[in-house]
Amino acid sequence: MSIATERLHETSDAQHAVHHAVRPYRFAAKVFHWLVAILVIFMITSGVMMKQLGESAPFDIYTLHKTIGAAIVLLVLCRFAYRVLFPDRSWNAERYRRPYLHYVLYALLFLVPLLGWAGISDFGAREIYFGYSLPAIWPRGAGWSDLLLESHAYAAFGMLVVVALHIGMAVQDHLTRSRWDAPEED
Ligand code: HEM
Ligand code: HEM
Repeated sequence: MSIATERLHETSDAQHAVHHAVRPYRFAAKVFHWLVAILVIFMITSGVMMKQLGESAPFDIYTLHKTIGAAIVLLVLCRFAYRVLFPDRSWNAERYRRPYLHYVLYALLFLVPLLGWAGISDFGAREIYFGYSLPAIWPRGAGWSDLLLESHAYAAFGMLVVVALHIGMAVQDHLTRSRWDAPEED
């Protein structure tokens, strides 16, 4: 094989590999991903705001935080069920990138809201809108609410760190791919 043909092969192999740096996702998976991402950013912002502003918050940010947080649990459950029940066959040939980071993200997406939910169940503050209440997931008055809500806060800030790593790696994958997609320089 000539040197030129060999280089051509190398380039197309590399291009093939980096083309799959990010797996192709189906439409529903993308909708779930971006919906959850936006809601999680909102939850961290609203959580910090409600702690800092307390009673002087401009609206009932506390009820909104509880309601959207519980909705995230349902959304992530649906996303996970969709993933397990309808696996994407086109992934089989590919290397699953960053599997552990994604497991950690999924674990935190359940753990963070459930700790908050357990905290308010123990404390006895499950009320949301129109006279409805979230179901209790922890016995009321068990005496663990402080610890549960403190763990909720630590886990939420831990999640922020993992999300920052995740975004950094996604951007890195994207930049590496576009470098290969760009025309050869020499
Ligand atoms: C709060 C924010 C976010 C959360 C909780 C989150 C969560 C996740 C999770 C759980 C996965 C794995 C999906 C699966 O394979 O089942 C994932 C994949 C992915 N996320 Fe995010 N994400 C967030 C923000 C972002 C942002 C801002 C970007 C873009 C800069 C991004 C880019 C990606 C990409 C490209 C993948 C696919 C990676 C691959 O399959 O190789 N994510 N994300
Ligand atoms: C992904 C979902 C969630 C995220 C990212 C999140 C994030 C946060 C953050 C960052 C704080 C502020 C912590 C601090 O500054 O000390 C907070 C506080 C709080 N969250 Fe969440 N939260 C989520 C879900 C929930 C849910 C589902 C509930 C209850 C149903 C809840 C109830 C609370 C409560 C009661 C506080 C105040 C704790 C205190 O006063 O010590 N959160 N949350």
